[in-house]
Amino acid sequence: MSLVEYEETRNFAAMIAEVVSERRMPPWHADRGVGRFRNERGLSRAEIDTLQAWVDANTPRGDPALMPPAPEPKDTWQIGEPDLIIEMPEAVQVPAVGPLSYTYVQTPTHFEEDLWVQAAEVRPGNPKVMHHMIACISEESNPGAGSPAKMPVVSGLVARYLPGGSPMIMPEGSAIRIPRGAVLLWQIHYTPTGKAESDRSRIGIVLADAVPGGQLHFGVARTEHLLIPPHEAMHRVEAQFTFAVPGVLYSFTPHMHLRGRSVQYEARFPDGRRELLLYVPQYDYNWQTTYELAEPMRIPKGTVIQCVAHFDNSEQNPANPDPGKYVRWGERTEDEMMDGGMDIVFPNPIQEGRKVPNPARAGARPGPRGTGLSGGQIVLRDGTILDAYSTEGARGE
Ligand code: HEM
Repeated sequence: MSLVEYEETRNFAAMIAEVVSERRMPPWHADRGVGRFRNERGLSRAEIDTLQAWVDANTPRGDPALMPPAPEPKDTWQIGEPDLIIEMPEAVQVPAVGPLSYTYVQTPTHFEEDLWVQAAEVRPGNPKVMHHMIACISEESNPGAGSPAKMPVVSGLVARYLPGGSPMIMPEGSAIRIPRGAVLLWQIHYTPTGKAESDRSRIGIVLADAVPGGQLHFGVARTEHLLIPPHEAMHRVEAQFTFAVPGVLYSFTPHMHLRGRSVQYEARFPDGRRELLLYVPQYDYNWQTTYELAEPMRIPKGTVIQCVAHFDNSEQNPANPDPGKYVRWGERTEDEMMDGGMDIVFPNPIQEGRKVPNPARAGARPGPRGTGLSGGQIVLRDGTILDAYSTEGARGE
């Protein structure tokens, strides 16, 4: 149901009136009374009334001369033309049935200088099977070698693909630093479709030409201490993130799994003041939205972000795979997580303004190889091919 063609759309008239008046569509899971978000999806009262009037008038076609052309599906990068495209060396084979372990891909960058990432977008080769993907930065030369069961220590996130999410475009004056010689780690959650599938995904990166004043970090109020009793409908879990230095808060990306019921973020300022920043009363695992603040917030040193989540492990939760089980922290969809993610810009300790080479524009400057990883490639804007990396394929359990 694309709602693009008139004949198709009118068949859903009654349902459209219902979902827009109940504000189930367009989808937005946060409480509209808390905070203001620049990516908020919603219709105004007047827009809802217009749709209702159209349905009440028996869905008239209107003047065909005024009809806009149907939008063409676009095959372009939302971040603009990338400077670097990092592509999987070969397709990952995703089995027909699961559950699956996470798939890991390691990508040595081999550049002689730090890279400063202004925007990053993941384009799944096969969106049917990719539930989500995060690409992290590790300064180790061969992180997690031999033990891909858990994400190795990483210094930050550089790209993410989440259901209902959008590409990472860094706030003005900030970028994500990929230190010289770092390895990118892709952690991919594939979901089987009942039929064997394959996926060959890419990450597009737009680089800054100069060192910015701020570095973007993905801060997380998180805990792995989860034990959700069977049949418990309102299990409360809390986690904190403390601002050790002042920063500017841009967005929230809460993450839970199938028992996630609600989540809220509250700022507790050093002067004792408290402010509710985001409340998601009906969390939905299928919508891993990043809630982007309409006005980024300056957060003083010492502020604590208190994240409170509730989990529903009862039979009333239609997404619950098994209400009879104790649920612990884990990476599988049927385990749980409690991550209160935030995009925060901290002042850059590295001198601002210095021009940095952009390998895509100034010619490739790969550093020495020798991490022991093989396969794969990084393609620069001018078509130069660099680099090599390895994959740990999706495996059924
Ligand atoms: C005025 C705008 C919109 C209207 C009138 C509309 C209408 C509808 C209707 C009638 C349904 C079926 C509901 C049902 O089966 O109960 C639906 C489902 C759905 N719509 Fe929309 N929609 C709108 C905007 C959007 C937008 C902007 C998105 C994506 C960002 C979206 C994503 C979906 C999805 C994924 C479903 C499947 C059910 C779900 O996951 O909740 N819709 N929509």
